[in-house]
Amino acid sequence: MRLLAACFLFIGAACSSESTQLEPDFPIEDTLRVSGSTFLTPETVAQQNDDFENPGYLWVERGADLFEQGETSCASCHVDGMEGVAARYPALDTETQTLINLEGRINLCRTRHQGLTALPYESDELLSLTAYIAEQSRGLPIDVEITPQTMSAFERGADYFMTRRGQLNLACTLCHDDNWGKQLRGDTISQGHSNGFPAYRFEWEDFGSLHRRLHDCDTGVRAEPVELGSQTYIDLEFYLAVRASGLELESPGIRR
Ligand code: HEC
Ligand code: HEC
Repeated sequence: MRLLAACFLFIGAACSSESTQLEPDFPIEDTLRVSGSTFLTPETVAQQNDDFENPGYLWVERGADLFEQGETSCASCHVDGMEGVAARYPALDTETQTLINLEGRINLCRTRHQGLTALPYESDELLSLTAYIAEQSRGLPIDVEITPQTMSAFERGADYFMTRRGQLNLACTLCHDDNWGKQLRGDTISQGHSNGFPAYRFEWEDFGSLHRRLHDCDTGVRAEPVELGSQTYIDLEFYLAVRASGLELESPGIRR
């Protein structure tokens, strides 16, 4: 039933399998798609764009150090750097045929190629490495693909976005598709895009992942939040990336 609904909503996407690049339709028209930074004050945008004033660069710098560390360092294999990589994630890991995000890819490199353990989600080290890699795609447009292998993950993400939840019984779409630009508890609701993350949030007084932001939106409607780094949030992250296609990556972003 849910799949049918998604198929109906994303006309021609789930329902036809003729081409490998599938193009869903979203409620917000392409020409109206705007980054969350549109709703920030000019001062905050200026701070975000200034590498010295943007606190997120502390994590980028820490990530750069970690990238060079150890006998088999990340840098020893990735000599050409990471430009454009973050713009293509989440993506399929061909070996396991699983959709993974950037954090997941970093941890796979640790376990597969460095003989190290995976870093805990939201740990300072994982955030720093993610920030360091994401920063190398700053200004590049989000460019993820839906393929027959990733279609079901996309549909699960879409389903999460469209489903009412929590004591307030609200779906993501009701705020971020239907009511963006309106005020809510002293904040302007944006279109709920992922392109600023990982980001520094004033409310956190800290740097955090997209999943931490999703966790906050879930608890905001008093729903049981999902574990950070879980496949449910990775699928949702994928849906958000497709939905934000073409928007420029801003990480390390600054948000309220
Ligand atoms: C009750 C309204 C509401 C609901 C429901 C809601 N959010 Fe949000 N969301 C907000 C507000 C308010 C903010 C902070 C201001 C803004 O929109 O950037 C926010 C921020 C975000 C951001 C960060 C945007 C940025 O540029 O910093 C993302 C991503 C996001 N939401 C995704 C979601 C997802 C996914 C869901 C469903 C799981 C969801 N939201 C449910 C109100 C909501
Ligand atoms: C021994 C070599 C090696 C080391 C060390 C290594 N990687 Fe990788 N990395 C790879 C290979 C090979 C791939 C391609 C995917 C695969 O086969 O796992 C890859 C893929 C990636 C990708 C995705 C690139 C893309 O275009 O999709 C990222 C991001 C990445 N590595 C980050 C890191 C980070 C961060 C570290 C250190 C924590 C690291 N790697 C350590 C070999 C390595």
